[in-house]
Amino acid sequence: MRRIHISATGDDLSLDAAQEFVRVTADAVKLRSRCFVALAGGSTPRGLYRALANTQPTRTQVPWSRIEFFWSDERHVPPDDAESNYRMASEAMLAAAPVTPTQIHRVRAENPDAVIVGRQYEEEILTDVAHDGGMPRFDLMLLGLGTDGHTASLFPGTTAVVEVRRLCVDTWVERLNTHRITMTLPLLNAARTVMFLVSGQEKAAVARAVLGPSTTGDMLPAQLVQPDGDLLWMLDRDAASLLTA
Ligand code: 6PG
Repeated sequence: MRRIHISATGDDLSLDAAQEFVRVTADAVKLRSRCFVALAGGSTPRGLYRALANTQPTRTQVPWSRIEFFWSDERHVPPDDAESNYRMASEAMLAAAPVTPTQIHRVRAENPDAVIVGRQYEEEILTDVAHDGGMPRFDLMLLGLGTDGHTASLFPGTTAVVEVRRLCVDTWVERLNTHRITMTLPLLNAARTVMFLVSGQEKAAVARAVLGPSTTGDMLPAQLVQPDGDLLWMLDRDAASLLTA
C-alpha cells in the first residue's frame, strides 16, 4: 500500500520519519525478534539519523540491539571519506547508538575493484539477511530521491536499473564519472516497508513526476520501486509543493 506523508518543515520530516522508524522496527522485532534495516545515503536522512540517536523518547524506543544495519547504496570511497554514506550514518547516529560492530554491515568500498565490492556485499546480504520465500527481505528500506529521479544508486539509463537477477551490483555513473555500489530493484521491492525521504524545493518537480499522474515515456528509477509491502513517501512541504490533491 502507498502512503504519502507531508511534514511542515525539514526538521519536522526528520522527527516524523523517526516515529515511523520506531514503529516499523519495533513491529518487526515483536514478530521476528530481529530487524533488517537498509540505510539511505545522501544528505536528507542525516536529520532522521540524528533524531534517532539523540532525541528522547525516540532513542529509548528504538530496538537498537535487535537491528542489523545495511546500506541501500554506497559511493566507491573508503569509510573515512567525506563522500562515504557509511561515514555520514556513523557520525550522525551509529557512533552514538548502543550497537555493536557486528550489527553494522557496511559496504567494503575501500576495495579499488568495484565489481568485487558489489559481489561481496551481495554475498553478505544473501548470508546475513533473513530469507522469506527464497528472498532476503529487509524490514525497512530507506531511500532518497535525486532530482533526475534516481534512488539508491539506480540512475536513469544505467544497466543497474534493469538488473533482475543480482541483488547488489557495482554501477558506472557517467554523469558523476564514478562507480557506485547499489542494491537493485528485486531487493528493494522485496522489502516489507520502503520509506522515501524527500526534502526541499529543488525536489518538487521530480516528486510530482514520480508521484503525480503517470505520463508517457520511460519510468524513472524511483517509480519502479513498487514493493510487495508498504511504500511510504515522507516529504516536507517544499518538496510536496507541486503535488496536487
Ligand atoms: C546517495 C544516495 C542517493 C540520494 C539522492 C538524494 O548515495 O547519494 O543514496 O540516492 O538518496 O541522491 O540525495 P540528497 O538527500 O543529498 O538530496
